Amino acid sequence: MDAIHFPKSCHVDQIIKDLDQQGFSIIDDVYPQEYIHALVEECTSHLNQFREAAIQNGVISKIRSDHILWINEDLEKAQQHIKMLESLGEELNQAFFLGIREVEAHFACYNAGEFYALHRDNPQQKNDRVISAVYYLHEDWQEDWGGELRLQDKNDQWHIIPPKPNRIALFQSDLLHEVLKAKHQRLSITAWLRSGNSIW
Ligand code: OGA
Ligand code: MN
Repeated sequence: MDAIHFPKSCHVDQIIKDLDQQGFSIIDDVYPQEYIHALVEECTSHLNQFREAAIQNGVISKIRSDHILWINEDLEKAQQHIKMLESLGEELNQAFFLGIREVEAHFACYNAGEFYALHRDNPQQKNDRVISAVYYLHEDWQEDWGGELRLQDKNDQWHIIPPKPNRIALFQSDLLHEVLKAKHQRLSITAWLRSGNSIW
């Protein structure tokens, strides 16, 4: 298989420095326009297959109201994004010895009024998620549309991160964060770089 190259905007040294100092990093202008269009098209053409994220194993949670679709091999465009994250994981392993071995991901759609309340993706090391990577793939986002990612960094400082198109928010999966109520349809791919050492 061809080597997956990082988008030019992925300055790995800067990402490593940010993660080390703050536990999170924001990467902008990640992909070329052509690929973004194809990815958005793949996402929107499958919206009728998304399911309520709040329902897992028949249990309904009140903390989130978005809809998701797990990414499998059939979703070819999203697979390319996963490949990019896998190679980013290798870089991070060299810098931090994180033991990242796999990436799992789902599309997410927040319609107007939907949110995801305060949570950690890996509370108390309960699962093998090491780094969370959220890519925003709606093609336009206005300042007053809400839907910001609100994140507490490793120094306990809070940050409000607008879901700007073509941006990746990368953060330690044990950090506290939430998605503020969106006022407009908000599309993303949430991915986790995992160590594959889960006891589950
Ligand atoms: C998540 C999550 C953040 C975002 O899916 O677990 O916290 O900005 N997403 O979409
Ligand atoms: Mn989360």
